[in-house]
Amino acid sequence: MKQLTLSEELRTLVQEIGESEIWRPVLDGNGNLLAGGAGHRDESLPEHPPADIDFHGKTVVDLGCNVGTFVRRAAHLGASRATGVDIDSRLVRCAQIMTEQDGVDNADFMVCDFANPPARKYDVAMMFDIIGNTTIGRGDMHHFINLMEGWASNELVISLKPMCRTSRHFNKTPQEFADIFPTCHLEGERFYPVREAVDYLGGRGWRLLSELPDGYETCGMKMLLHFGRA
Ligand SMILES: C[S@@+](CC[C@H](N)C(=O)[O-])C[C@H]1O[C@@H](n2cnc3c(N)ncnc32)[C@H](O)[C@@H]1O
Repeated sequence: MKQLTLSEELRTLVQEIGESEIWRPVLDGNGNLLAGGAGHRDESLPEHPPADIDFHGKTVVDLGCNVGTFVRRAAHLGASRATGVDIDSRLVRCAQIMTEQDGVDNADFMVCDFANPPARKYDVAMMFDIIGNTTIGRGDMHHFINLMEGWASNELVISLKPMCRTSRHFNKTPQEFADIFPTCHLEGERFYPVREAVDYLGGRGWRLLSELPDGYETCGMKMLLHFGRA
């Protein structure tokens, strides 16, 4: 039987998975765009995260890595080893192919549920576009932060929206949301996830290392928050 080239295998995988599950752009070895990335929409992350974080010599894990975009970035930014974890084996295979195409040799991937942290922690754990409207609206924000802590010894990098509206983003009244997630960062129908994360992680011995720019709560864009052990 004819062996598929990596580009052919990638194209087949993209068709099988479907564009809605592929969060970032996928290119084949010739630079052809196979999927645009469903996550590149409104409220998206800024263009080049996490370029301002020092990864040199650190072990880094990206939880829910999808096609491995941020794993390759961490590897390019000097991580001693960057590892991507995703529960979907087809996405992990896409990530492996794109990493091989890019000639990145300090990155690897594993099919794993991030609810099962390893015995040995990584220096840095990252989680992008996981703690979003659905998770926060279900009252699961702290649960996901706790999961991240199980993977990281020193640093956490999380993407979060600065502000959500209970009706528009959670399909709940403020009271319904307050009933499942008691918080002092709910004002009317506005909930402030960045304030919540800074407070919650602060109480667990983490310090925010990123700067919060003036007016960040009105910009609408997701932000990257970088925490270190206090
Ligand atoms: C919204 S996408 C975010 C992708 C990626 N972090 C990014 O920003 O490009 C969520 C990803 O998390 C993965 N995922 C969901 N639940 C998971 C779990 N329990 N363990 C590992 N991966 C999971 C999904 O397969 C999917 O690839």
